[in-house]
Amino acid sequence: MVTPTRRSAVLVAILMMASEWHDNNVAMAANILALVVTPSPSHHIWNRALMLALAARGHKVTVVSPDPEKHPVPNHRDIVLEGLYEDIHASYDYEAMSKESFIQNTITIFDWGYDSCKSALASKGARQLMDLSANETFDLIIVEEAIDDCFLGFIPVFGSPPVIGITAYSSPPWAGYVVGNPDTPSYVNTYNLPFSDHMNFFQRMSNMLLHTFVLLSRRFYHMPLQQKLADNFFGKSIPPLTEIEKNISLVMVNIHHSLDYPRPMLPSLIPVGGLHIKPSKPLPKDIQKYLDDAKEGAIFFSLGTNVRSDKLTPDKRQMILDTFSQFPQRVLWKWESDTLPGQPKNVKVGKWLPQSDILAHPNVKLFITHSGLLSTQEAIYHGVPVVGIPFLADQFTNIQKCINHGVGEKVDYDTMTKESFHGAINKVLNTPSYTVKMKRLSEQFRDRPETPLETAVYWTEYVIKHNGAHHLRSAALDLAWYQYLLLDVISVLITGIILCLTLLYFVAKRVYKVVTKTKKIVKSKKH
Ligand SMILES: *[C@@H]1O[C@H](CO)[C@@H](O)[C@H](O)[C@H]1NC(C)=O
Repeated sequence: MVTPTRRSAVLVAILMMASEWHDNNVAMAANILALVVTPSPSHHIWNRALMLALAARGHKVTVVSPDPEKHPVPNHRDIVLEGLYEDIHASYDYEAMSKESFIQNTITIFDWGYDSCKSALASKGARQLMDLSANETFDLIIVEEAIDDCFLGFIPVFGSPPVIGITAYSSPPWAGYVVGNPDTPSYVNTYNLPFSDHMNFFQRMSNMLLHTFVLLSRRFYHMPLQQKLADNFFGKSIPPLTEIEKNISLVMVNIHHSLDYPRPMLPSLIPVGGLHIKPSKPLPKDIQKYLDDAKEGAIFFSLGTNVRSDKLTPDKRQMILDTFSQFPQRVLWKWESDTLPGQPKNVKVGKWLPQSDILAHPNVKLFITHSGLLSTQEAIYHGVPVVGIPFLADQFTNIQKCINHGVGEKVDYDTMTKESFHGAINKVLNTPSYTVKMKRLSEQFRDRPETPLETAVYWTEYVIKHNGAHHLRSAALDLAWYQYLLLDVISVLITGIILCLTLLYFVAKRVYKVVTKTKKIVKSKKH
């Protein structure tokens, strides 16, 4: 006879077996295609973290990008979009882009997307990918939700398997748009604007206008251009790109509420901010010693991957060096050339420096940065306050968020003087609150049930397991814009109210006439 305890033991065993089976099923290797086209080293760093994690889980990953792996990785295959970086660097000047207005910048970024997607489709890699479609199928396609949308055309070519979007670029308006996420520009700071979640009237107005401008110019300027590229390459047989993107199951975005403020997010818009940050590795010996011996602390200076600091004008460079020489701290500078003219004694340069591991060193007291999102997240992760010198795109927003959180100061590159640069460094180094607040922000940023990379892997496998996870799809995507905004309902209600009021007016007028008439009659009868 099976006693109740025996029975529950059997039940537990069955459940355990079931869950084991379930786990094995999840871990079943899938064939994944990733279309990650944007020619930007920082996007690549972020995307790559997910690709390598998926390959390490046993999935077969084919990555189409301009950034191939330097060494072979098991389960990982590269299809290289060669020549993309060269084409883009020939036609875009990042220093000039820093002087554009936010509206201009939006258009420049879309034009950048046109040129890079055109160049990508013209590459041998795109042909190679096309040839692959003859005899290979995929269980999942990962697309970069950035600006190279012509590559969406490959989705129907490969028989429209489930698709997910990823973006290293914070959470641009269109990332939410493609999954039908609610837009709330009254308190969600959009895209590139350097505001916070508390905006005054004019900030809310600019926020709403820029947000709408970005979405409209994407829809009516950017997407038609991308469609033209796709039509040329794929022929007219594929569905419109704007229809293909409505099939995206979910989008993973590079934000976290600690830095980027709370905002409404559908279950299909998934925050995995900072997924590129790896556990710290030991530093190269010379850097370890240099930082260990920095008795007064150290400053780390890097302008990221797009702006090369050896391309700074000589007077700016000299000003920066003069400023550094006035501080007792040691300075580690990511400098892309062999020699640094006029290098002071307390400055050490390196062409390639392991940024995240350097920020992890306890003697690093300040990070002077271009305020790219990945760098900002690494500074927060390691609790190092920042001085930001933003150049373009979201860098202005990132440093403004740091200022709002009390963990950094900003220096304007164009108007920068020795005094302003020195002042900002001095303030952040010698006011304890910057470090205290940065350590607190760091704790909030790190405190999650699992690492953001684990979250990203989980949701990637979730979409494969549930064959596109269409139950996550928001019904918002099936509504016309006026239905979504309830304008049809509101207009019927307003019309109803107007009709009622008009009716009331005429009835009242009638009643008034009758009443006054009767009064007159009564009056005349009395006389
Ligand atoms: C959306 O995906 C389904 C398969 O899941 C496919 O049949 C359909 O053609 C896709 N729609 C577009 C516009 O690509």
